Parts: sequence; structure tokens; C-alpha cells
Amino acid sequence: PIPIVLDVDTGVDDACAILLAALHPDLDLRAVSCVGGNAPVDDVVRNTLVALRAAGRTDVPVARGAARPLLEHPVDARHVHGDDGMGDLGWPAADLRPDPRHAVELLRDVCRAAAAEGRAVTLVPLAPLTNIALLLRTYPEAAEGISEIVFMGGAADVGNATASAEFNVFHDPEAAAIALDAAADLGIPVTMYGLDVFYEPVITREEAVELVAVGGRGAAELGGRLMQFQHQRFARDASTIGDAGAVCAVLDRASMTTELLPLRVELAGTWSRGRTIVDRRDWSGDMKHDPHGEAPLRVHVALKVDSAAYAQLWRDTLLGRLGES
Ligand code: BDR
Ligand code: CA
Repeated sequence: PIPIVLDVDTGVDDACAILLAALHPDLDLRAVSCVGGNAPVDDVVRNTLVALRAAGRTDVPVARGAARPLLEHPVDARHVHGDDGMGDLGWPAADLRPDPRHAVELLRDVCRAAAAEGRAVTLVPLAPLTNIALLLRTYPEAAEGISEIVFMGGAADVGNATASAEFNVFHDPEAAAIALDAAADLGIPVTMYGLDVFYEPVITREEAVELVAVGGRGAAELGGRLMQFQHQRFARDASTIGDAGAVCAVLDRASMTTELLPLRVELAGTWSRGRTIVDRRDWSGDMKHDPHGEAPLRVHVALKVDSAAYAQLWRDTLLGRLGES
């Protein structure tokens, strides 16, 4: 299995991602670090423990990380994720405690162990990049234990927090710029699973009912209830698995189309702060001129996914039906 670490702001769809990473046999979930984003960080820790308990993975360490962005004031997304940050399901709290280490220290230790073992982890941030920026600047040697970063954030096209910017990058633009810059410096390949694909893998109302019917307060029931929360809140028949798609991308690269493109994070801008500016100009022929001088970093940008394949991968994993189709 692929060793994987998640950084989350759980979060309805972060919970969906945790369930998949916790249960898929081809993934070895080593740790989950938490950051303030969709909800305040203490709620994020509680929600993360709930998701791991539902998946029966009480062995995975969970640590509390940055409570606020580096520079910005925190803005949560309760209007999207509910007052408790995870769909207001009335689900009981888990009888689990977080790891005593700060998230950055947990990430450092996991990366160090992975490097020593010779099995570097895939780091999957699904939240504002505050913890990741702090990790890579404080402990650059952690890079030896990271094979790649696949993050949910940004957009080549339209945003969601604003017309320009995606929530995770908008929430902490400096952290996104630092994390991407550090990854480039340290030679860590980066894939951006952004809004260009994020909303596409979806679960129908019927599929959610099937998941909920499994019951027993397990992963399938929790995943189904989270999808039903979104069906209701947004009055739509299709509910995105969101962040879970980035975990699908780690499992099934072949169902995703990416392009290696220059990318900059907008840190100024009147209306565009937090935008990921993906340079899709035609660089052939005489066009080779960038007035900004310094070469921007290049990121594998997800531009298309097989949404049916990803939705099915998520559903089958939660239903324990892998390999049946
Ligand atoms: C991202 O922001 C949050 O609402 C989701 O959990 C996802 O990580 C989408 O912009
Ligand atoms: Ca998230």
C-alpha cells in the first residue's frame, strides 16, 4: 500500500476523504493533521476523530495544528459545512484523544520515520496550507520522507470563496505561496486537485440511501449521511465527494488528466487575492516571454477526471465492495 498522510479541516468532504484513506487496502494511512479552515481547529480535531472512529481506525494519530492563517483573519465555512463543521448530524463524539504533539511535529516525525524506512509518504493537504508551510520551512528535511504532494486547493478557472479564489488558498494565501515555493525548492512534485475537477465526482440521493442503510454508525452510514446533508443544504440531487476526490487521485492516476503548468499564488490583487494563476498561454514559437522575470514553479494541474470512476471508488470502498465490479 501507498503510505499517505492527510492534512484536513474536517469538514463534510474532508470526512469523506478520511473514510476512503482509512479503509482502502491500497493505502496505508499514517497520520492526520488538523488545521483551522472550514471550522475552528478544535472542531476539526473532534470531527476528524469521529470519522476515524466510524472507519474503525483508532490506531491513526491525529494532531491539532494551526488555529489561524499566517496573516489573514480566519473565516470559517459553516454556511457550507454546518454549525459543527460536519453536517450537524448529531453523531456522537468519538471516545478518542488527539496525539499530544502539534500537527507540525507529528508531520515531521512521520516524515522522518518514512525516510528512515525508505518509504516516503504521499502528503495530501485538503485544507488551508498553514501546517504545510510551517512544516516545510521549519523542518525542510521532512522533504526526504515525502514522495509527492497532492493537494486540494486552487483553480485554473473560477473560484468559490470569491469569483477568483478557491477557499483553501483564499483562507491562507501566504501559506499556499510558501508551501508551493518550499516544495519546488525541496524538489517535491506537486499535483493540484482544484476546483476544475473538485465538484465532479458525485453521489446521488439513491446512492446515499444505500450507504446509510448499512447502519451501525460505521463509515458507510456516516458517508451516506454527509452526502444527504449536502443534498438537502444545496437542494441538489447530486452531492460532491469533494476532498475525497484528491484521495481517489492518489489511488487512480489513470482516471485523471493533468498538465504540468506554471503557477503563481496571487498575494495582492483588489479582487483576486488568493487566486492560483495558472499560466495556460501557448509557450511555443515566439511567445516565450514572461515580464515577471523569475521562473514560476510548475505544478501538475488536474484538468479532467473520470468522475464516475472516482465516485464509484469512494462508494465501493465504504460499502466494502472493492473488486466486485
Ligand atoms: C475546499 O474548501 C472546503 O470547503 C472543502 O473542504 C475543500 O477542501 C473547497 O474549496
Ligand atoms: Ca477541506
